[in-house]
Amino acid sequence: MAGGPVFAGKGGREYPGNLTPYVLATCIVAAMGGLIFGYDIGISGGVTSMPMFLKRFFPDVYRKQTADTSTNQYCKFDSVPLTLFTSSLYLAALLSSLVASTVTRKFGRRLSMLSGGVVFCAGAIINASARNVAMLIIGRILLGFGIGFANQSVPLYLSEMAPYRYRGALNIGFQLSITVGILIANVLNYFFANIHNWGWRLSLGGAMVPAIIITIGAILLPDTPNSLIERGKKDEAIAKLKRIRGVDDVTDEFNDLVVASDTSKLVEHPWRNLLERKYRPHLTMAIAIPFFQQLTGINVIMFYAPVLFKTIGFKENASLMSAVITGGVNMVATLVSIYGVDKWGRRFLFLEGGAQMLICQIVVTICIGLKFGVTGEVSSLPEWYAIVVVLFICIYVAGFAWSWGPLGWLVPSEIFPLEIRSAAQSITVSVNMFFTFVIAQIFLNMLCHLKFGLFIFFAFFVVVMSLFIYFFLPETKGIPIEEMSMVWKNHWYWGRYIPNDDASNGLSALEMGISKEPVKPVY
Ligand code: BGC
Repeated sequence: MAGGPVFAGKGGREYPGNLTPYVLATCIVAAMGGLIFGYDIGISGGVTSMPMFLKRFFPDVYRKQTADTSTNQYCKFDSVPLTLFTSSLYLAALLSSLVASTVTRKFGRRLSMLSGGVVFCAGAIINASARNVAMLIIGRILLGFGIGFANQSVPLYLSEMAPYRYRGALNIGFQLSITVGILIANVLNYFFANIHNWGWRLSLGGAMVPAIIITIGAILLPDTPNSLIERGKKDEAIAKLKRIRGVDDVTDEFNDLVVASDTSKLVEHPWRNLLERKYRPHLTMAIAIPFFQQLTGINVIMFYAPVLFKTIGFKENASLMSAVITGGVNMVATLVSIYGVDKWGRRFLFLEGGAQMLICQIVVTICIGLKFGVTGEVSSLPEWYAIVVVLFICIYVAGFAWSWGPLGWLVPSEIFPLEIRSAAQSITVSVNMFFTFVIAQIFLNMLCHLKFGLFIFFAFFVVVMSLFIYFFLPETKGIPIEEMSMVWKNHWYWGRYIPNDDASNGLSALEMGISKEPVKPVY
């Protein structure tokens, strides 16, 4: 299929190749890995608001909700085992993503995906058939292990399979499939909640469907050429590359992949490198961006929207329906980001999204404060109050979904130079999972103690992160990955960390003689 689009390669050379149906199909199947992550984010909130689920596993919470009507609204759901149910998954994901990085490197991306699918499926079965809290938590931990493996290997797989010019869109495509997973889970919760005694089993067991898809997908999918080269299977890699790109002339791309692989093997101490002064800006971003992404408070909504809506006075069905609405807004607003990220730039989206979230957090604080005050006792305010709260929560979610949501993953992946990419990316993933765990674990307790001030807590961080972006994040829109170092050198603050004789901030990809093609991130 000569004559198709060509892709930039080493020293401006161009790689011939097409966006073949084969590569498209493999990428769609691989992106299902985002679905399992999203499904989990969305499912736990709905399940933990289902009375029959609470009655069976968390009777104290159930009793507080039903019998004791005088109880402070803010503290109705405050229960350590209940939060452990949600958050244990993320701690497990953090640990397994570290293990997965070795499996992915040594045995290929497919094996990581396959392991992820199988372990995840086991977790879903245990959860669906749970008889006690221990089974629930063990199930969640297995799901977490599965997600750690999938999140480690899927984005890597996508970026290696995708042709150069479609790589950015496919990156946010992964985030899009996370939001689709969240929405599907919200919708299923809404319907399954009506199945009186065992609807929660269907919600939890439903995770088997994406798990089976990713498991079968991993068996059928080819391994990436990069991974084959990395593991010394060069003949197989060249044959695979021809099939993926739909052309016979793949010599340039193949040679560049070999050089890239050899070069990254020369870097002996990426972790130690990371501590060098000239990598201070990168290390700062690797930690700050995922930390701030979680401190927007988004997962308070993603995990606990139905619980939150019940707290402000919605009935069970209305609470679950509100979660469906926020899930829909989250997905649609992600499309805006795909459209705008290369037109308006990252900084604009970060700052606009930040301002939007801040305003909404202030309004929600006022509404909840007026209704419950500091005592948490319900005063008789009209129902439209709750509707205003949901409306502003939707505007808040939209703000997140076109800023910190996708950019929280995209920006770190495009700013690290090759020699520290592996280590820096692992830090980003781990910090994200750790703070997801922390927020999930402490939210209900924070609601109980900070009361309506909870939203001010997150609003404070939104101000800090917006100032951080304004002063410290250079615009990376339209900058080739191998020229990113100049962005730091020219920055008013970070410039001082980049030695003059090393304006390239370490060896640029070009100087190292490797492909102009963005080098695969090694997680
Ligand atoms: C975040 C998740 C969040 C999701 C919401 C992702 O970028 O990492 O923590 O739940 O967006 O769509």
